[in-house]
Amino acid sequence: MSATHSRHASRGPLAVKVALPIGVLFTAIASLGALGGVIAADPAPIPLPAPAAAMALPDVRMAQTPAADPCADAAVRSALTAGDDEATVHAFGGGEQFRAAVVAGNAPCISLEDPHRDWVVVNKLRPLQPADFAPASVVASDLRGLSGSVSMRPEVADALSRMGAAMVAEGGGALGVNNAYRSYGLQQVTYSRFVRSEGVEGADAGSARPGHSEHQSGLAVDVVACSSGCGSLGQFGATAQSDWIVRHAHEYGFIVRYEKDAEGVTGYMPEPWHLRYIGVELATVYHEGGFRTLEEFFGLPPAPDYGH
Ligand code: DAL
Ligand code: ZN
Repeated sequence: MSATHSRHASRGPLAVKVALPIGVLFTAIASLGALGGVIAADPAPIPLPAPAAAMALPDVRMAQTPAADPCADAAVRSALTAGDDEATVHAFGGGEQFRAAVVAGNAPCISLEDPHRDWVVVNKLRPLQPADFAPASVVASDLRGLSGSVSMRPEVADALSRMGAAMVAEGGGALGVNNAYRSYGLQQVTYSRFVRSEGVEGADAGSARPGHSEHQSGLAVDVVACSSGCGSLGQFGATAQSDWIVRHAHEYGFIVRYEKDAEGVTGYMPEPWHLRYIGVELATVYHEGGFRTLEEFFGLPPAPDYGH
């Protein structure tokens, strides 16, 4: 570039830019400086605007971008309509996205009160709705059953069967079922028996009142450890089977629902034998996230007592 050209080039833009706001002017000066001292040849002083005017910034308002609505997603809607809970969670983008959307209140199509769904939360403050809810169908488990007729929802029986087989194959020992689905009427009998033997306070620490038990949903199973015979529920926590369950149950969609030191949230003493089916995607996120209660997992309040 010749001297004539460079002088011409520096004068033209400067003549325009002195009329621009100070920020633009500084930008222009800086960029011209980068041309190799071209403006140093122009001695004309540049008047600076008063500071007050320079500080008068425009009132910038950011438009709020609404979060995407996962319930509007076609795959979510069709999985929900089909009653395919695992596919629904998957359509949300996976267990963590599902959980996060529910916790954020961004999943109006997901009801934690719907007893037909794997994600229903039942506790002392959240009775089954209706209170006498019964699952559409229950089937017998193919694991050893103590009463001979332990039944549960079909997807739960299938997951339990696969889990029991894997446990044996991996040297974890044999699993049996003590009990699983309990109707409202059977829960009445069960709870009343505990009240007679332990009083109301004792019963409430270990047995749900009718209409408040996960067993009534068909999604809960009480398991025992077996070899030649099977142990009791109370013995389960100290067994190899219990250790295996803690490490692997999520791979089959189960969580241990009532853990140690979580009584203040669940309202129940620890029950290492009480498995709750929530599906593989959610159970895996629960396990990997180190969650201890379903209430915390879904951002729900603790339920140590009945509200009445
Ligand atoms: N033992 C559990 C809390 C139930 O009765 O459902
Ligand atoms: Zn149970």
